Amino acid sequence: MNYTFADRMQGMESSAIRELLKVAQDPEVIAFSAGNPAPESFPIHEMAEISASIFQEQGAKALQYGISEGYPELRRLSEERLKNRYGIGRDFDQLIIVSGGQQGMELSTKILTNEGDTVICENPSFIGSMNAFRSYGLKLRGVEMDEEGILPEALEAIAASDPKVRFLYTIPTFQNPSGRTMTLERRKAVLEIAKKYDFLIVEDNPYGDLRYEGEDVAPIKSLDEEGRVIYVGSYSKVLAPGIRMGFVSAHKDLIAKMVIAKQVSDVHTNQFFMILAAEYLKRYNLDDHVQEVRKLYKHKLDLMAGAIREHFPAEVIFHKPQGGLFLWCSLPEGYDALELCRRSGEAKVSIVPGRVFEIDAKLVSGTFRMNFSTPSEEAIQRGVKILGGVIRKYLDECRPL
Ligand SMILES: Cc1ncc(COP(=O)(O)O)c(C=O)c1O
Repeated sequence: MNYTFADRMQGMESSAIRELLKVAQDPEVIAFSAGNPAPESFPIHEMAEISASIFQEQGAKALQYGISEGYPELRRLSEERLKNRYGIGRDFDQLIIVSGGQQGMELSTKILTNEGDTVICENPSFIGSMNAFRSYGLKLRGVEMDEEGILPEALEAIAASDPKVRFLYTIPTFQNPSGRTMTLERRKAVLEIAKKYDFLIVEDNPYGDLRYEGEDVAPIKSLDEEGRVIYVGSYSKVLAPGIRMGFVSAHKDLIAKMVIAKQVSDVHTNQFFMILAAEYLKRYNLDDHVQEVRKLYKHKLDLMAGAIREHFPAEVIFHKPQGGLFLWCSLPEGYDALELCRRSGEAKVSIVPGRVFEIDAKLVSGTFRMNFSTPSEEAIQRGVKILGGVIRKYLDECRPL
């Protein structure tokens, strides 16, 4: 069959890159290309106990339809934690439970944009969100960053030149893929620009709890006094991604529209897992669990950063992030990380070329992303050593483009 697909499915991801990343499915390959939480961090025993008690005590409720806003107890507990931990939640805000943070981005797009509108994204940015925007026929404009996050002048230049900007999508803390965290000053500046040019901000914060060093920086949403910021959070990186549990905190008028949009998408988030997440939050202290997860990831990050210093040529630049799940590296000027990715796949180590996360994936880029949460300690050490050898060979054999 020759299928004709909708225009909105175009430009999602180049198939050449997808083919390249398939090497990670080979069990012999050391996958630094994934972004999965560590399986050893999942509270399996606790969840098994809670599951059994749910079926014993409220089985019918767990198997019945629920409401699109989400299980009330989970909403309440999520709001409480947001308020205590991040100072988020003003009188005008409400919270909806969504099927992972990813759905928060999709619903925001669905309720706010028309085909041909513009969304500004950090460049590079999270591919899942960029594809959600693309699937609604939006124009993506990439805003430049430095180590302190979005460059306010660059953001203002885009906003001033494009009246169709509907929102800015940002991951200000431990950005995926770059690992960068926006400073408080920049967050304030970004919010001021949004006010000046009257666009909204979608703040995506799945990694905020995974800080291993340094001080927390206030979310942009906590600075928002007028309902301009849509905050998207997730339990994927602190509990488990398979339960597909996220939430959106935003002005109640926005949430009311999201509720209608969610009815069309999936009616409500999985009722059993919403009850399970609520019970987990009631019976256990999530912050204690997060503390354990942080310890595990800090150790893995230190290990990977140490191995990189030992095995990578000095010309490769990398920034050790203060949290999150990713290390972002750059080859010297003129080298292509796509070619490196091909070579490292042959040596049974997978990495992701940075261009995957760029607005225009066809542009040559020397950047690549490495994940440290999924591989074992042994795999981190062995894999970085192999990769170091592959990089050396590539730099020796090839001239810059
Ligand atoms: C920046 C960012 N946002 C959102 C998500 C989606 O997370 P969830 O599992 O909550 O849908 C991810 C997942 O990797 C991510 O990296």
